[in-house]
Parts: sequence; C-alpha cells; structure tokens
Amino acid sequence: MKRAGWGWHSDGEDKVLPNAGSFIHALKLPPADGDTMYADTFAAFAVLPADVRRKIMGRRACFSRQRFHEVYYPHLPPLTDAQKKARPDVWHPIARRHPKSGWTSLYIGRWAYKIDGMADNEAQELIDCLKDFATRPEFIYRQKWKVGDALLWDNRCVQHCATPFDDATYRRLMQRTTLEGEVPIMAERELLRSIPALV
Ligand SMILES: [Fe+2]
Repeated sequence: MKRAGWGWHSDGEDKVLPNAGSFIHALKLPPADGDTMYADTFAAFAVLPADVRRKIMGRRACFSRQRFHEVYYPHLPPLTDAQKKARPDVWHPIARRHPKSGWTSLYIGRWAYKIDGMADNEAQELIDCLKDFATRPEFIYRQKWKVGDALLWDNRCVQHCATPFDDATYRRLMQRTTLEGEVPIMAERELLRSIPALV
C-alpha cells in the first residue's frame, strides 16, 4: 500500500494478535531510494537506562488504529463504524518477552499513545522518548533493495520503516506476506540478549 509503511512500527502492533513475522520479496524497484530500515529492539531494551527499564516493566501501552488511522493513512477514507468495531484499541506489554528465546524487547511503535497507570501527558512523554530511543542509529540495519532480494523478519523484536522514493516517476513492486502471531507476552523479568546483534 502506498506510503503505508512510513513511520517506525512493527506489523500488526495495533491488533490483538500482532504478526509474528513478515516477508517481503522485491520484484520491481526504483533506481534509487525506497530502502527499508530495521531496528533491533532486543538491543534497544538492553541498553535502556535501568530506571527507564524499571518504569516500563509490567506496564502496557495502548495501540490505537482508530486514533491514528487518519494520521498514518491520510490517503484512505476514514474508518467506518464497522471497521472501528473490528479494530478496537489494544493494550500490549512495553517490555515484551519473546516466546522462543525468552529475551526482552522494547515493544513500542507509532500506534502507541497511552500507558496504563500513568497520566496521559507523562505517558506521551515516555512513549516519545521510547520511540526515539528504539530507533537510534546504532540499532538500525538499512536494506538497500536489489531485485530478487527477499527478507523475513521477526516483528516481536524488530521495528521497521519504509523510506521515500520518487513514486511519481517510478514503480516499486514488492510481494509481501505475514506470519500469524500470538498475544504478546509480558516480560516478568528482564532477560537481556546475551549475544551481540548481527547487524
Ligand atoms: Fe510494516
């Protein structure tokens, strides 16, 4: 979908069952730009200041498609009442336990706007700070696509973000599919990834 991927997020974070993984295969590309960036959220959690980690342990953020639909999908019509009903606000743990490795990731993204047990202004400030932190340059891998490239990623420990290209002149055609996920698990204790990132 045109421009749908701009802004850092993990796929399905605004759903009850976010997508576990996503897969993209590049078929047709513009001659320049249109890279995709990926941020390692195990790494981000591991180097968050200890007081911030303590602050987010055990808390959930509200992810709202309804609130941000017109912000992130301005080219689409507003949600109908039926669509709103199908996409209620969801609350996910900010410190998320990966169901396979057990490691803790920082789970936050563009659809988040409230935190349980926290005043709205304080929550917004913390969310903005966490979003900035999660996407610091040292956590980012940048995929410069070549035709035929395919990439599979784990949305439970990675955020991603599309970048612009000259879409008035060029076409970019990608095949995409997603893997079914599970209800995000709250991290009950901090378990930091013990090996360095490969990116
Ligand atoms: Fe996406």
